[in-house]
Amino acid sequence: MVSRSHRPLRRGLRITLLALALPTIASGIALLTNAKGARADGAEADKAEASERCAIRIAIALQGRSADAALVANPDPQGAIDGMLASPEFADRYASFINSEFNGGPTTAASDDPVYYLAKFVIAQNKPWSELFIGAYSVTAAADGKSMDVAADAKGLGYFRTASWMKRYAGNEPMGYMLSASFRILSNTAGLMLTPSVGNPGDDRTATGRSASPCKSCHFDDWYALDKFARLLPMKKVASDPPTFTPTTAGPQQLLGKTITDDKELIQTLVDSDAWRFNQCRNVFKFLYGRSENQCESKVFDACVDALASQKTIQSAVAAVAKDASFCVK
Ligand code: HEC
Repeated sequence: MVSRSHRPLRRGLRITLLALALPTIASGIALLTNAKGARADGAEADKAEASERCAIRIAIALQGRSADAALVANPDPQGAIDGMLASPEFADRYASFINSEFNGGPTTAASDDPVYYLAKFVIAQNKPWSELFIGAYSVTAAADGKSMDVAADAKGLGYFRTASWMKRYAGNEPMGYMLSASFRILSNTAGLMLTPSVGNPGDDRTATGRSASPCKSCHFDDWYALDKFARLLPMKKVASDPPTFTPTTAGPQQLLGKTITDDKELIQTLVDSDAWRFNQCRNVFKFLYGRSENQCESKVFDACVDALASQKTIQSAVAAVAKDASFCVK
């Protein structure tokens, strides 16, 4: 499905690393020419400065604030990472980040952001990250209208069956197929990236038009055949505004190499895939570094994927990257 082979080659990075190493070499030479005692002091001071820089970096990345005095004085700030990942600040920060990755930002109403509230809940309760996508919860506007409540609900499917999310991605397909929601599901879980075709005036936008060239590759033929995914989702009632939905009657679809009967089996299959773990770790890198991972980081990337596979929480995945020595030297 989705491979990592298209990771950008970062030629520039080597040059940057070399440039960083030069002042260190220069200061090493300077130290050698000093008296013995001065050299030891210098090394101590360098170490203190490095761990202070590390403390600042970790506090900003994980909690969005400057490092407190205890962390600055800590000779091993990376040892404090687990504690920080258990803080409400981290839950809030990662949930906001994911909300903007999945939705392009918050909505205008604070009671309309199920991704943010469910992600925060999943992190704060130390649940497997997959619960954000498949957990049996409802996410509904709180009584005060200023936030959302998460509650156990056997009919829940992560945020995908919440009224807010369905309304947001219902789309305008003439029969009511939720093509927009299908695309969001694939992009949030497996990292699918597509630029929808704008088409030409007079194009047949119905299923008949979409099943002809050049539309059919995205809509019917490729592994991410959007129209087939949409047949597993509820249907938007035509011309309903605000949108209302009816259950799908299309029956099972051949997708992702198997027969899939409903939206729950679909999301479960996606969440069980390598593509899901890769994509969640891509997000982890983006959260910590503000950019995608590069080739030199494949070992840390794999550690992230392994942590997610074995320990399940997003905290474990973030820890695998943030605790690596490379997070503090770059
Ligand atoms: C490169 C892949 C790609 C191709 C080719 C493509 N589409 Fe799409 N199409 C998409 C994606 C992705 C979406 C979902 C966009 C979104 O997020 O709303 C979409 C959505 C749609 C929708 C639903 C819009 C809505 O508001 O619900 C229609 C209708 C549609 N496409 C028709 C067509 C037609 C007709 C063609 C050929 C002329 C075509 N598409 C070709 C990717 C593609």
